Parts: sequence; C-alpha cells; structure tokens
Amino acid sequence: MLANGASYSLAVLPGDGIGPEVVDAALKVLNAVEKREGFSTLISKGLIGGAAYDVFGEHLPQATIDICRGSSAILFGSVGGPLTEAAKPKWANCERNSILSLRKEFGFYANIRSLRVPPGLEHLSPLRQGLIPGGHSIMVIRELLGDIYFGEHNTTGVSPKRIASDIAEYREEEILRIARLGFELARGRRRSVVSVDKANVLDTSRLWRDVVTSVQREFPDVTVEHQLVDNCAMQLVRNPAQFDLLLCPNLFGDILSDIVSVLGGSLGLMPSASLNDQGFGLYEPAGGSAPDIAGKGIANPIGQILSLAMLLRYSWRMDGAANAIEMAVETALASGARTRDLCRSGEPSVSTEEFAEAVVQALEE
Ligand code: IPM
Ligand code: MG
Repeated sequence: MLANGASYSLAVLPGDGIGPEVVDAALKVLNAVEKREGFSTLISKGLIGGAAYDVFGEHLPQATIDICRGSSAILFGSVGGPLTEAAKPKWANCERNSILSLRKEFGFYANIRSLRVPPGLEHLSPLRQGLIPGGHSIMVIRELLGDIYFGEHNTTGVSPKRIASDIAEYREEEILRIARLGFELARGRRRSVVSVDKANVLDTSRLWRDVVTSVQREFPDVTVEHQLVDNCAMQLVRNPAQFDLLLCPNLFGDILSDIVSVLGGSLGLMPSASLNDQGFGLYEPAGGSAPDIAGKGIANPIGQILSLAMLLRYSWRMDGAANAIEMAVETALASGARTRDLCRSGEPSVSTEEFAEAVVQALEE
C-alpha cells in the first residue's frame, strides 16, 4: 500500500447552509478511509462565505487563503445564503467573492464535474424513464479561468441609458491545456469527447473549435464531436445517454453542468474538482448551500463524499481509496439508505449522519 504511513494536510472550508453538515459526513468517511489505507490527515479548518463575513467582515479572508496555501488539497462545503436575504451585505456577492477569488488565487483552470446515476435510482430522473440508465455516467470538463467570467465587466451611463458589457476572451494556450486534460480523461472512459461551442456566432468559439480539433490529432484513439451549445442543451434532455464526456468553455460549462447535475434526480449527487496545473485542487459538491434545509440533518451528503473521492484520486493519487468510496456509496444506497431527497413519499429516509455511517460500514466490510 503506497500511502501507508503517509500524512497529508487538508484545508477544510465548510462554509454556509448545509455545508458544515455534509462536510462532517465526508470527514467521517475520510476517517474510515485513513484506517483502511493506513495514512493520516492533518485538518485545518477555515472560514469562508457568510460564515467568514460574520467574523472577518469579508467572504474570503486572508487567513483562509493562508490555510489553503499551507495544505495539499481543499475540501470545500458550500457558500451562500437565502434568496430572501440576498441584498444583505453578508450575502451580497457571497458566492462570487468566495469561489471566483479562490479560482483566480490558485489558478484552478480545470473543473471536473461527474455524475453517475446510481443503479436502482433511475426512477428519480426528471426525464422520461429509460432515457438515462442506472450506472450511466457523464463527465463535464469545464474551463474555469477564461471566457466571459474573467474579461472586463463594465457598466456606463445613467438610467435609462445605461450600457453594460462583459468581455469574453480566450487565449489559445488556455484552450490547449483544458482540451488536453479532457482528452486524457476521455482515455480512461469511453474515448468519446463532445466539445461544446457557439462557433456559428462567436470568435472565442471558433478558436475553441480549432484548438480542440488540433488536440484531437494528439489523441487519435479518442473521437470528438463538436456540438453547438443550444443543440447540446437540447440533446442533454432528449438523449443524455449519448454523452460520456463534455468539454466546455467556462460559461457554457456552467450552464450545461447544472443540467447534468440533476439528471440523476437530486441536486445532491454531483461532486466536482477544480484543479490547477500542479494538481492542487478544490473539491466541492455541485449542489449549493440549500439554506432552506440547513441544520435539519436531512441534506444529502453524497456530492460531498464523492468530492472527497475525487480529492483522493486527483490530488493524493489514491485511486484505490477513491474507488472504494464510490463503491461504498453505491453499496449504502443499494442497502436502502437514502436521504429524503432520494425517497418517494412514504419511503423511509435516513439522516445525513446515518447515510455517512452506512458508507463507513460499507467501507469497513
Ligand atoms: C458554479 C457556480 C459559480 C460559477 C458561481 C457561484 C460564481 O455557479 O460553480 O457553477 O458560475 O462558476
Ligand atoms: Mg454554476
């Protein structure tokens, strides 16, 4: 066992809403994996989002950045408050300030979001039954530092004559590195990439398509299909089973990954990894802070637990442990343990903590 005896430093940023509960669930699972694989983790907790605002008056305090910098990976919960309080300083721009700044600070250019419809839960899909089979998995590779997100944002003039603009920009090398990562990851899957753009309108998309086409030549064993983003969105709800790996520019990846996240029937299922070119990464569930159910012990911790599995795979290179966690989640589900979001009315549900315990039990078997 390679990892035996090793010690890893981990920054843990629980954040707001259900963040702390689902992070606790994932840390229970981490504890079980440590015992199983024989390594230890030194955890440093940091504040972020509204939780940080309460203490520091800002969403991403320097103290939290320092904790991340001193660690070999970041396990992130979620940030953000109730929509009804969105105008309060504690919550205004909270997600943007917390998440976009971390991406920029650490150069997280690659976002990997991956959904696997748990076998036995196909009936939860919002789509017509049979359209997405249990066990089907779709991975979204999203470029995270370019495009319209980080170009200049500007508003000029006075109402009713204001003009707003957001510049979308891609440099060739930004597309190259994300495309190479996408094709590499496709090699471990069905060797089929769908690259998304709006090349019938946008220059950034024409460059995207051109660079992706050239990268495909480096990976002759992987096929690529180019889809326009509007068509792709339609195909994702019409015939999602055609997709294995989507390669997307920043904005289209943001939108399409939300569609993918719900194909399995709950927002709580999809994990995500944001990586820089040194393999340092931030791992978070895609579902968000769900303030309406926070503190009730009913949140689904699967997205957070699977984010931990991605952390073990991509940052700590423990594939075996990552696979074991993913299998243990499916074993727990197969044994009937389900949080409320996965139950039809009348079906018995378990709490966040009980679900984590079921995963731990599956790991120990
Ligand atoms: C995401 C989120 C963020 C994004 C927001 C909160 C800035 O929607 O991670 O998908 O748009 O990237
Ligand atoms: Mg989003």
